[in-house]
Order: sequence, then C-alpha cells, then structure tokens
Amino acid sequence: MRIFVAGGTGYIGSHTVLELLAGGHDVVVADDFSNSSPVVVNRLRQISGKFFPFYNIDVRDEAKLDGVFSDHKIDCVIHFAGMKSVGESVKMPLAYYADNLGATIALCRAMEKHGVSKLVFSSSATVYSSGNQMPLTEDSAVGNCANPYGWTKYMCEQILRDAAAANSGWSVALLRYFNPVGAHISGDIGEDPLGTPSNLMPYIAQTAVGRRESLNVYGDDYDTIDGTGVRDYIHIDDLAKGHVAAINHLEGKTGTSVFNLGTGKGTSVYELVRAFEKASGASVPQKVVGRREGDLPICYADASKAARELGWIAEKSIEDACADSWRWQKKNPDGYLDTIASTQVRNSLASSSCSSNSAFSGT
Ligand code: UFG
Repeated sequence: MRIFVAGGTGYIGSHTVLELLAGGHDVVVADDFSNSSPVVVNRLRQISGKFFPFYNIDVRDEAKLDGVFSDHKIDCVIHFAGMKSVGESVKMPLAYYADNLGATIALCRAMEKHGVSKLVFSSSATVYSSGNQMPLTEDSAVGNCANPYGWTKYMCEQILRDAAAANSGWSVALLRYFNPVGAHISGDIGEDPLGTPSNLMPYIAQTAVGRRESLNVYGDDYDTIDGTGVRDYIHIDDLAKGHVAAINHLEGKTGTSVFNLGTGKGTSVYELVRAFEKASGASVPQKVVGRREGDLPICYADASKAARELGWIAEKSIEDACADSWRWQKKNPDGYLDTIASTQVRNSLASSSCSSNSAFSGT
C-alpha cells in the first residue's frame, strides 16, 4: 500500500514510517517541522535504506495537499499532524483548535477529492472522561476533557466519524494512545521535545544525561503503590506496529473503529525512575513537589480489543524502553539540535517542496 503520513517526522510519526517501510509499504511523508527537525528525514532514509518522497508543507494548505495527492496514488492516510502539548493548549487554545481541526478537515477533503477511503487517526487516552473506572475500555465515557488539547482530539474523532458516515466505503481507525516512551533501537531517532519536557520519560532522560538538575515528582501522596502517579507506558516501536496492524484491519471494512493502544499495565513514577537508573547506570536526582493540576492518580488501558481484532499486543517492556531512551539520549544529548545539518536541510527544502533532490539521498 502507498501511505500518506501527515506529520511523519514527529516522535510517533517517525517511528511509524520505519515500521511501514519495514512492512513493505511505500510512504509519502509530509511535515512542516513545527515540532520536529528536518534531520529526521535523512535519518529515516539512512536507517531504512529506502528513499521516500518528502513534502515540507503544512497539511492545512489545501492547494499543496492537493498537489501531493495528485503526484501520488495514495491508498491510505495516517494522520499525526497536530499540536500536542497539554500545557500549551491551555495558553493558546485557538491555535490548537485551528491547527488540529484544520489539518483533519483538510485531509478529509483531499481524501474525498482523490477517492482515498482509508484513514488512521492519532488520538489519545486524553479523550476519556476523568471519572472512569480503570482500566479504560473503548466504551468508557469520553468528553469532559481536562484541556483544549484533549478537546481537539475528541472533536477530530467526531469529525472523522461524521466524514466516514457521509462517505460510504470509508474506513477509519481511531487509535487512542496511552503514554508512548522509548526510542528506535538504533538510537538515531527518539523523542525530542521543544524546550523543557512536560512528559515524564524525556524529563528523566534529560536529567540522567545532565541537561536538567533534578526531576520534579508531581505528588507522592496518591493512593497508588508508592504514592506516585501510575500510567500505561507503551514502547514507541509497539505503538508504531499498532498502526501497521490498524492499516491491515481497514482492508475490506467500512465505518469507524476505535482501539486503545496501551500495554494494560500501570507503572508508577518511582518505578519508571528506578528502571531508568538501572538501564542507564546514571542517577536521576528527584525532588517531590506538589501534585500537578489535572493529573489523574492512575490511568491505564484495557488493550484487549486491539489484541482480539487487530492481532496486536505490546511486546516490549519498561526496561526495553528505558534502555532505548538512554541510547537515544546518550547519542543525541541535545536531541536533533545539529545546527549546521538542520540549516543545510532547511535551505534545501526551501527551494523544493518535494525533497527528491540529492541533499536527501543519504547524507
Ligand atoms: N510526572 C512527574 N514529573 C514530571 C512529568 C510527569 O512526576 O516532570 C508524572 C505525572 O504527574 C504523571 C506521570 O508522571 O503521574 C506521567 O506524566 P506525563 O506528563 O508523562 O503523561 P500524562 O499521563 O500526564 O499525559 C500524557 C500525554 C497526554 C496524553 C496522556 C494519555 O502528555 O497528551 O498521556 O494518557 F493524553
């Protein structure tokens, strides 16, 4: 299949591109680098040993998107393009609604125009309401989202359900991610948040490598195994494989289906810190601070529907994720911040919207 990956150089998108290529699919990738680095394009080509077309575009630009769909016969879209910081979404809600809803609508319009009927959407466990029992199943209550980011995912799910209902023959999978962690085994791609990380794993990794002084533990007085928050951390490679399984599932189906992608296991902040220290041999200084507003004590998935219907289960452990995050962090202590390479790549992209030029062929 030829898959258009919107937002394909971000953390989840980039790992998914590798899994798609490994699975024998062709990919056409687009990103505007608003929260990722152009360096990723070359790294993906190097790791996979495969060339793929790349477009430096904002997918909300419908004319440019139309150009991509005209250049390539697309069979399926995977939609990762969007803003994803919970805290930022509270400060700039309009940007989040415009960007996340706008990208979803633009992609649906391009699909309608070009007769593409399959889409996999990057949703989130954040769409679930806060009063639910754990573990969360796909039938747990949604809505009452804690922040605008969560609402954008909730609304995009609704847009996609309505678009699938209006276009007979469309098949849409909404994938609700739990907490992605880890990095590709090569250590050449990984999570590289802009500025100070708000998520736990990148904060731990940056503390271990000496970029941050100490980890703030947001509360140790929850009713959990050791008082710290419990989450369902899923290795990024497993999450990426979930997308390949979802694409296979769409074949011959119509309508919308929803899947939790998680491990079904909860891990506390202290458990994750200890696993990281063990995997890295580095110490992660910590201090307990107050609870973070909006945090749940415990959140984990019932992932049995994905196992039953997609034939997918998360296979990697927290220990694997810590070892892989550490490899990425050690090899790239400043993330993708490689100013010379980034500038060269940005310049070459500025002169060509589709990077089929030699600057991308494996440097
Ligand atoms: N935590 C700390 N210190 C930190 C960061 C986090 O103690 O510096 C704790 C949190 O309190 C929580 C746990 O680590 O108990 C995980 O926090 P994250 O910020 O890594 O993840 P969240 O579960 O809060 O949210 C993430 C994404 C959301 C997504 C959600 C899905 O940020 O976008 O997972 O469950 F919706």
